[in-house]
Amino acid sequence: MDSDEINGPILDRFHRDLARVHFLLGSFPTLERFVKSGGAPVRRVLDVGCGGGDLLSYLRRRMGVEVIGVDLKPGFQNDVPVIAADATTALLPEADVAISSLMAHHLTPEQNIALIRNVGRSCRRLLILDLIRHPLPLALFSVFLCPLIGKEAAADGRQSIRRAFTTDEFSGMVREALAGTAGTFTVDVPPLLSRQVIDIRYR
Ligand SMILES: C[S@@+](CC[C@H](N)C(=O)[O-])C[C@H]1O[C@@H](n2cnc3c(N)ncnc32)[C@H](O)[C@@H]1O
Repeated sequence: MDSDEINGPILDRFHRDLARVHFLLGSFPTLERFVKSGGAPVRRVLDVGCGGGDLLSYLRRRMGVEVIGVDLKPGFQNDVPVIAADATTALLPEADVAISSLMAHHLTPEQNIALIRNVGRSCRRLLILDLIRHPLPLALFSVFLCPLIGKEAAADGRQSIRRAFTTDEFSGMVREALAGTAGTFTVDVPPLLSRQVIDIRYR
């Protein structure tokens, strides 16, 4: 999906397949629960690496929040406003909560650290949802999800799990990004290791 050749209808099909994976994994309700758990009122949500914008569309419908997305290569966008930009460096729109879903494994550790610091310039909280590099989710994805999604998305998903970060690796990156600041974070992992959610509070 990072390839320059993936564009137009193929990119849109990827995003539709990703939406099916999110539905099967229950990631949107999971992220909604995290957004609501913050304690402070949430009026505006930013999705960095928002792809097709399905998560923002879901959160706007469910919570009545204002939404805005940023993506290097925006896809078909469900009538969600999306800015084309590199989220690791560009000045991002202000929001109460920023979310990054299934993007971290596309970035190097240095880019993830830059992303975490960059989001902190305009948001007070960042939720990162990503895969975990581990044989268990790889086997479960191959057996249960691959038959339900397109061939390219199945291959992309398996490759994504193989290149994802372990929970320890992710915690190390977040610690480095927040070093010397008042920021704190927690990590949430379900028993089948289907995903990790890193909840970062900047201040
Ligand atoms: C696997 S897709 C995930 C899309 C969506 N967040 C989801 O969960 O379905 C990763 C997305 O991150 C975007 N992306 C990768 N690097 C980025 C960067 N540096 N800045 C902004 N977007 C980026 C890609 O263009 C792609 O749309």
